[in-house]
Amino acid sequence: MVKYPVTKPDLRNCLNHIKPYKPGKPVEEVERELGLSGVIKLASNENPLGASPLAVEAMQKNLSKMHDYPDGYCYYLREALSQKLGVRPEQLIFGNGSDEILSFLALAYVGSGDEAVMATPSFSQYEFALRLLGGEPRKVELVGDNFEYDLDAILAAVNEKTRLVFLCTPNNPTGTIIRKKELNSFVEKLPDKVLLVLDQAYLEYAWDPDHPTGIEYIEQGFPVISLRTFSKIYGLAGLRIGYGVAPAEVVADLSRVREPFSVNAMAQAAARAALEDRDHEERSRKMVEEARKQLAEGFAEMGLRAVPDQANFCFVDTGVDSKQVFQALMQRGVIVRTGDIFGYPTYIRVTYGTEEQNRRFLKGLKEALAELS
Ligand SMILES: Cc1ncc(COP(=O)(O)O)c(C=O)c1O
Repeated sequence: MVKYPVTKPDLRNCLNHIKPYKPGKPVEEVERELGLSGVIKLASNENPLGASPLAVEAMQKNLSKMHDYPDGYCYYLREALSQKLGVRPEQLIFGNGSDEILSFLALAYVGSGDEAVMATPSFSQYEFALRLLGGEPRKVELVGDNFEYDLDAILAAVNEKTRLVFLCTPNNPTGTIIRKKELNSFVEKLPDKVLLVLDQAYLEYAWDPDHPTGIEYIEQGFPVISLRTFSKIYGLAGLRIGYGVAPAEVVADLSRVREPFSVNAMAQAAARAALEDRDHEERSRKMVEEARKQLAEGFAEMGLRAVPDQANFCFVDTGVDSKQVFQALMQRGVIVRTGDIFGYPTYIRVTYGTEEQNRRFLKGLKEALAELS
């Protein structure tokens, strides 16, 4: 019996606002299609130095244990992070990437018609998590050539329906930060019952001593969660592990919506080892500092300006359609992120790479711009 057209339940209404995430092609597929080898991906802000050797060793040691379920409490990792950060174990929540913690936040606090305030351009997953539950985003533009947060405008967008405020510092895709002195008064003024979500996926790259860790607010009892990840400086994006630091009461709420085994055992072992490898962390930071200088010089030669960043990527105005720049760069074996997805169609976001990767990117960009202008 033929059953076409397929009949199925109607999609939940709020999901009509969500477009499925469009993943890039695997590097190997791009190479095959373009007949290239050695394609480099500077599009997802990963660590080009790879994972810490200590993390790789920990994973190898754990291979024989994969028939057991992981520790649902992340006991050893929790202990290590609690000591490192000076917080209580019950102030930590772990997720399958910090992305999953964004979903926990929406599941725990957002119902249909509730709102959350966020900046634009910023990380797309805040809106995704909200929309899943029928929540509505209120977006506030970053201001000026340096894409600074306008915290007064963010505060003005908070109303009685607001449950969450998302602030990303350093911000993706601009790399800009919010300083403590501005955030201190923002936190004080935020109404009761609104949770401030500080997304700090790139925290380890911010050098400004006035950059907040988030923990200073949690210690004082403010409703703040600081989200961190092992995907960036720790080079473990493929394992999917992130965490949040928050008041124990918030962690208890989030724990209600967490499925027991979302953080896999390999990720827990690798993350624990990665935390101990200060040398790898320092090398990764140094690579980014050097790359930032290298790209700034290259951009200056081309008459381009990047937004001053404190992250492992930069946002630069190419002055032309960035989709065309993307194509021209891809033909030359370099993958970057176009700015149109963030509402800035002439910008590209590029992850800082090794010296050789940066050289290839700059050469490709110069050729692309010559071709396009
Ligand atoms: C600002 C920001 N937050 C969160 C994430 C998600 O990180 P994770 O890999 O831990 O899910 C990313 C990843 O790109 C990000 O840029």
